[in-house]
Amino acid sequence: MDRPPFWLMRQAGRYLPEYRKLRAKSNGFLHMCYSPDRAVEVSLQPLRRYAMDGVILFSDILVVPDALGQAVRFEEGVGPLLDPLQNNSDVAKLKPGNLRRHLAPVYETVERLAAEIPDNVALLGFAGAPWTVASYMVEGGSSKEFATVKKWAYGDCAGFSALIDLLVEATADHLCAQIEAGADAVQIFDSWAGILPEAEFRRWSLTPIRAVIDRVRAVHPTTPIIAFPRGAGQLYASFAVESGADALSLDTSVPLDWAASEVQSHCVVQGNLDPQFLVVGGAPMEAEVRRIVGILGKGPFIFNLGHGVVPQTPCDHVADLARLLRNL
Ligand code: CP3
Repeated sequence: MDRPPFWLMRQAGRYLPEYRKLRAKSNGFLHMCYSPDRAVEVSLQPLRRYAMDGVILFSDILVVPDALGQAVRFEEGVGPLLDPLQNNSDVAKLKPGNLRRHLAPVYETVERLAAEIPDNVALLGFAGAPWTVASYMVEGGSSKEFATVKKWAYGDCAGFSALIDLLVEATADHLCAQIEAGADAVQIFDSWAGILPEAEFRRWSLTPIRAVIDRVRAVHPTTPIIAFPRGAGQLYASFAVESGADALSLDTSVPLDWAASEVQSHCVVQGNLDPQFLVVGGAPMEAEVRRIVGILGKGPFIFNLGHGVVPQTPCDHVADLARLLRNL
């Protein structure tokens, strides 16, 4: 392409009135994820408005624990809730054999999307990384301190490894199934990678993601894999060399000149507009987009945000962003 391709993390969701309308009619968020009619429709909503170069499957990282038998519910204004895993006997009760059957509607959604979207639009599948998904499974939902999951990971390395190893297999299987259904590329979201000290980051973020990538690559050697170790800081450089990912998604805080020399020299980079610039819009957003493209656009680069679109984002600003990027 003669300009950087673009898509936006959380490009489908509550900032879109057509999403809110369908969501109000649905029997909960997970039900929407498991209804191919609705999930296809919601995945396509941003494409119709803004003609991104990529469509991401509408689903959630927490469908994996749900499929493993740890039921997930989404409470209005609270977020995800799970009955927390407390020990290895809880891990032993998980049922990895159920994954493909439970998630069949998700793979059907991917299949239908692959048939529907134009050839010049990439279809992205995704999964949460083992560490981030484990944090929700152990904390029982969102967390500020991550005290419970850290206590387990730091205090009982062997025991916690059993959960991470199980999630490596489940995550790889989930990504392979999406590729088999027609995903052109996949992204692994490690939203909470950045809360770990270096040695723990290597043990619980980098190493398991590398294992997931190795397993997916063994079956689907040509499918590009994007990893998002959010908050990794300087460890983005090690991640680029050691993870085996084809591309790394940069969070909002990564300095761009540094990323160009230390990360983009090893792999494609994606990112990293602060989602709040999309809320602000206008001249400040345009200047920031030009700054990002000016530095990262000289090498292999996918334009994206540094984290997901937030619900208070005005749709007009997303349209302005898409126009700006198409005319670069
Ligand atoms: O990017 C996309 O458009 C595809 C869909 C997608 C969703 N979640 C839809 C969603 C993707 C890729 C995700 C990933 C996800 N989910 C992550 C990793 C990325 C990140 O944001 O860090 C995480 C940590 C989750 C877990 C999750 N899902 C939380 C904590 C919440 C509640 C907070 C919130 O924003 O409501 C969700 C719910 C969720 N996932 C919504 C959407 C559109 C909102 C649900 C609603 O309609 O109420």
